[in-house]
Amino acid sequence: MYGLLILLHILGATVWTGGHLILAFTILPRVLRERSPAELLRFESAYERIGLPALIIQVVTGLMLAYQLVPDPARWVDPSDVTGRLIGVKLLLLATTVCFALDARLRVIPNLSEAKLVSMAWHIIPVTLLSVLFVVVGASFRTGWFY
Ligand code: HEM
Repeated sequence: MYGLLILLHILGATVWTGGHLILAFTILPRVLRERSPAELLRFESAYERIGLPALIIQVVTGLMLAYQLVPDPARWVDPSDVTGRLIGVKLLLLATTVCFALDARLRVIPNLSEAKLVSMAWHIIPVTLLSVLFVVVGASFRTGWFY
């Protein structure tokens, strides 16, 4: 079971983080250069179909892995607990990601125009950074980078 959870978690991470790196480093610069909201919307609608399920898989498998690693959820918010603290950081990254994603989905994307492309970039860049931090914190459970 543990192997399957890790496999799904890593597969989800490749889609979520990989997709955002492609968006930030290849699609976004072109969209800004050519001032083309249509191209961004095309990528968003195609990526959404695998990006959202990937994020849901990350949350479900992540919570199951967290529960196996630290079965008492009270320790996830205890700053003195080394492993629990990393789970808490993951949950904080998740909450921040959800705030950016909801703001983009509900406020920016429905009225996306040339004038709003910079505002959209200010959502894409932080969410991409957060997606990389998810992987760094994830890898640190085994490598012990932060303890
Ligand atoms: C898009 C979001 C996420 C990404 C990209 C991500 C990525 C990763 C990666 C790459 C690993 C390392 C796997 C390994 O050791 O081989 C990992 C481990 C882990 N992640 Fe995530 N993660 C995400 C969300 C979450 C969430 C929401 C939680 C829940 C709190 C979570 C909990 C964990 C746990 C507990 C581990 C350690 C598993 C273990 O070694 O037993 N992750 N994550």
